[in-house]
Amino acid sequence: MLEQLDRIQSEATAALEAISDPDALRAWYGVHLAKKSRLMTMLGDLGKLPKEQRAEIGKRANEVKRALEAAYAAKEEALRRAALERSLAAEAYDVTLPGRPVQAGRLHVTTVEMRRIVAIFAEMGFQVFRSREVESDWYNFQLLNFPPDHPAREMQDTFYTTNPEVLLRTHTSPGQIRAMEALRPDPIRVILPGMCYRYEQISARSEIMFLQVEGLAVGHHITMTDLKGTMIDFARRMYGQERQVRFRASYFPFTEPSVEVDMDCILCNGAGCRMCRYSGWLEISGAGMVHPTVLRNGGYDPDEWSGFAFGMGPQRATILKYGIDDIRHFWANDLRFLEQF
Ligand code: PHE
Repeated sequence: MLEQLDRIQSEATAALEAISDPDALRAWYGVHLAKKSRLMTMLGDLGKLPKEQRAEIGKRANEVKRALEAAYAAKEEALRRAALERSLAAEAYDVTLPGRPVQAGRLHVTTVEMRRIVAIFAEMGFQVFRSREVESDWYNFQLLNFPPDHPAREMQDTFYTTNPEVLLRTHTSPGQIRAMEALRPDPIRVILPGMCYRYEQISARSEIMFLQVEGLAVGHHITMTDLKGTMIDFARRMYGQERQVRFRASYFPFTEPSVEVDMDCILCNGAGCRMCRYSGWLEISGAGMVHPTVLRNGGYDPDEWSGFAFGMGPQRATILKYGIDDIRHFWANDLRFLEQF
């Protein structure tokens, strides 16, 4: 019996040494250590042995069992390590290679400029008031003092829908009425940024869609001085404290008096250059005192209230600031353009 145990041990050990994969190891376990193996059967049958042999054989059988179990565990561990090393070798990578650059997105140049404008007016106490891009003739024109056949409509042709009342807004000014309707009877200080649409020949200078930022202040005792101060302060915060600002008489049906706001050219400081077309000045905004009819249309009594409004095209300012030669670049989605900012 003892000899038999020795043989079991040496055979099992030899077989184990030859093993090099987990399937074979599992099979080996089935033959040498599982319940029905020779060794386990002998251990189970110990009770059938004559008393005087039992202790010695039992001791030896348990020794063999422990030895085989230990050898099995060691082999299992060795196989695991070998597999790990194999996969490390096969999938080796060079940690000294430079990393792949992460493609970082960024904001569109007009978004950046728009946010600066919003931030400047926010500091002056203006809140952003969102207003719709799809408007009615009533809001886009009539409430702003453009009656149906008014010649001022010539400047702002738009895109109409199959419903003759519904159109794409040509400017952010209808938002003035919407803001007054939403905020009356309180004083108002809002800016209305957003997209506008005009039916125009597309060229380097004009697009059929473009951004505007409208401003509206309504209160008691608001005067032209407030408008001028606001425009001058804005121009200086946006384009530099040394900026000069001038106001020229102009015409809009919804403001009276109306002005164009110019600042001295940021490229030549007023000396005259290609960008300012040798005038020394750049137009930055239309503006004026809110027309009494418009105040009334918005629900404010013009005998008690007054206000100013302005409307600027931030893309124009961006064009000027960066010397962009074609307004069509903005929505062309050409990365060569966008990545410059
Ligand atoms: N809505 C005018 C335009 O698009 C600009 C403007 C706004 C003028 C507010 C005066 C007051 O041309």
